[in-house]
Amino acid sequence: MRGSIDGVGIGLRREHYDELVAAPPDVPWLEIIPENYIDRGGRDARALAEAAERWPIVAHGVSMSLGGPDPLDRDWLASLARLLDAVDAPWYSDHLCYAAIDGIALHDLLPLPFTEEAVEHTAARIRKVADALQRPVAVENITYYARMPGGRLDEPDFVRAVVERADCGLLLDLSNLYVNARNHGRDPWDDLARMPLHRVVQVHLAGFSVEHDGRLLDDHGAPTHDDVLDLYARLVERIGSVPTLFEWDTRVPPLAVVGAEAARADAVRRAALARRAAAQAPAVALRWEAIA
Ligand SMILES: [Fe+2]
Repeated sequence: MRGSIDGVGIGLRREHYDELVAAPPDVPWLEIIPENYIDRGGRDARALAEAAERWPIVAHGVSMSLGGPDPLDRDWLASLARLLDAVDAPWYSDHLCYAAIDGIALHDLLPLPFTEEAVEHTAARIRKVADALQRPVAVENITYYARMPGGRLDEPDFVRAVVERADCGLLLDLSNLYVNARNHGRDPWDDLARMPLHRVVQVHLAGFSVEHDGRLLDDHGAPTHDDVLDLYARLVERIGSVPTLFEWDTRVPPLAVVGAEAARADAVRRAALARRAAAQAPAVALRWEAIA
């Protein structure tokens, strides 16, 4: 069964394969990490096939190295396109980062310099990826703990420039936005306002931990912080409902706990939508009065 994608979904994680079958959660869609399923058989392939029967699937990659120096891997793109076709993924997302150098996967998402050259380079590669995959691409704002030297742009300007130049979507990770703003001494509300919100096609929410020096560590191992949910509510009030993923990737709890966190975020989303509708109602009523 497949349907349109909205509301708050969760990630398909190996820790939950059995629970997904035994007690399927009441979530509207699932997000997969395609690297876990390309050219894989056995339990992973079976779990994905079962999940795709039941839920719409969105794909979120971790290794495309969209801003990296290595040439795009055409074989990998072809394999990825086959997987996305098989699960009917409506778009593909990956991170605004580099993740490999000289053919060596770094197994980390590293920040790009916030330069005009990086904007041009990354935007051109995003266009090529969208072309190869024959579907829209969205890029995610990552967390970074040190700024790459050389750039004069700041993070919101860099993100805006890339997505405008690439004509692509933005997967806005609000937890990443919050972590970066706090760690780099900025106001998360300012950063949110300066992001290209008209480009947002998906949202990520996740938890973080607090280091002994007070810095925030984006480890996807906790419930979403209330401050991040406040940002989420403001975003939904501003742009309306947007497909949202609650991510939990380290110290993964039972599926019911992840599902309950997604439900908590969904309650925030619904309340924000109600406020948005209420705020728009008088204008609609006035227009009808003018017509009558
Ligand atoms: Fe994310």
